Amino acid sequence: MSKSLDGVLTKKANKKETFSEDQINDLMQCMNTSDGYLYFARQFAYIQHPVQGKIEFSPYEYQLRLLGSYHNHRFNINMLPRQTGKTTCAAIYLLWYAMFNPDQTILIAAHKYTGAQEIMARIRYVYEMCADHVRAGVTSYNKGSIEFENGSRIVSQTTTGNTGRGMSISLLYCDEFAFVQPNIAEEFWTSISPTLATGGRAILTSTPNSDEDTFATIWKQAEQKYDEHGNEQEVGINGFHSFIATWDEHPDRDDTWRDEEIGRIGEEKFRREYGCEFLVFDETLINSIHLANMESTKPIMNMGQTRWYKKVKADATYAIALDPAMGTGGDYAAIQVFELPAYEQVAEWRHNTTPIPAQVRILTDIAKYIQQETGITNSIYWSVENNSIGEAALIVINDFGEENIPGLFVSEPIRKGHVRKFRKGFNTTHGTKVSACARLKTMIESDKMKVYSGPLITELKGFVASGSSFKAKPGETDDLISAVLLVIRMMSVLKDWDPRIYNTFTTVEDTEEYEAPMPIFISTNY
Ligand SMILES: Nc1ncnc2c1ncn2[C@@H]1O[C@H](COP(=O)(O)OP(=O)(O)OP(=O)(O)O)[C@@H](O)[C@H]1O
Ligand SMILES: [Mg+2]
Repeated sequence: MSKSLDGVLTKKANKKETFSEDQINDLMQCMNTSDGYLYFARQFAYIQHPVQGKIEFSPYEYQLRLLGSYHNHRFNINMLPRQTGKTTCAAIYLLWYAMFNPDQTILIAAHKYTGAQEIMARIRYVYEMCADHVRAGVTSYNKGSIEFENGSRIVSQTTTGNTGRGMSISLLYCDEFAFVQPNIAEEFWTSISPTLATGGRAILTSTPNSDEDTFATIWKQAEQKYDEHGNEQEVGINGFHSFIATWDEHPDRDDTWRDEEIGRIGEEKFRREYGCEFLVFDETLINSIHLANMESTKPIMNMGQTRWYKKVKADATYAIALDPAMGTGGDYAAIQVFELPAYEQVAEWRHNTTPIPAQVRILTDIAKYIQQETGITNSIYWSVENNSIGEAALIVINDFGEENIPGLFVSEPIRKGHVRKFRKGFNTTHGTKVSACARLKTMIESDKMKVYSGPLITELKGFVASGSSFKAKPGETDDLISAVLLVIRMMSVLKDWDPRIYNTFTTVEDTEEYEAPMPIFISTNY
């Protein structure tokens, strides 16, 4: 306190000092690279509380996790509600980072001039209130920048397409990044990315805004955490770690507060600004509340790139569906395996550089494995989608010899009144897709169908209404879903053979538009 009364707010650089043992201990703790930031935040940071004035910073639980996200990941993106201490935490962390890591350039990019000024003001406040023995001396102390005696500096700028250009940045902090104008954010991000690639770190923190801005894009990629084996990674495909907190984690906010706030700003704005939901107007096939509660489980075994979620058993029926793709790096080919009549997901495979013959080989391997484990062949049913690329798969199956694939090749019934050349497998039309989607929705929402795969659940979250059908949002995939839809269509054919499937399948309201199916499947393998 005496410091500010004396008007000595800062500390001179390279001042000779003598320390007590306790002070040396404090310094050592703050310098600790693994959790020095926490010691500093808890022992030496003061903040201005709107009601109580100057108070010691005592981080809330979610703030501890937020600070952990800042510290433990080179790239991190953090989504928090309004007024939850985002800027406060950033100011404390960045000051610690500058004072205890020599020769760092920290760039703060804020969406408005006042925002940039505000963060600097917060940093200065923490600095000025900080005990002398732990803080570093400054060689320059301005509104827009601070330079420390250890060679580190903090620079704050408004985010524009040019921000940070030509600077060698060790740590970039973007505040309220979702509120930077979309075109500016994009230009800024494109120009800053190469700088980061050479070793810099990045922290993006914001309350969400739209579903399609740069912040949302980085967030969504950070949320895609499955590698090609279906294993969950700590960071997303763009290398970012994602962190989210919601309003109810704030100790001062309860249901009464929520109701008042909703009354003030409306439900939609509340969900965005406090629930941290992207304003998604897209309607997902599966009810969003149900989607949010769907949990994935880890595979119990990996066979090549096929992930198995459930042991196979002798008294069940298995449906294996292949949705083929070219295998040239574009769309993914996918296989789904479900157990009937439990409708439980058993195994899954997806790849985009596996050629069609190898896709058929993987289907065969799966069928062989089930046959081997159960000792039964006539409980295995398999099929493929035969649209365009699927035709190539049919040729491969023909060359390979259908009889070499254990189980029965199921084909769709020829519809009454439809005169067309019979092709094995299933042909997807607008109508068949929509009705399979409707069936999938009912079965998942009524918990009749059990899916376990994380990658499949991720796809379901991005599977949205488009025109009068459903498809993946731009930039996302729906190949695993396509294979599930094929399984569903196989089930509706199979139910006429297996009374167990018939009983359970038909209890779900029948949405198929065609009449009593006339099944056709041809097999040489009993
Ligand atoms: N752990 C804490 N204990 C008490 N008060 C806190 C704590 N963290 C932050 N605050 C106070 O909460 C208020 C909001 O903090 P801050 O401005 O950092 O939030 P923000 O999330 O950046 O808000 P905005 O969304 O408006 O940018 C400030 O007055 C700050 O001092
Ligand atoms: Mg803020």
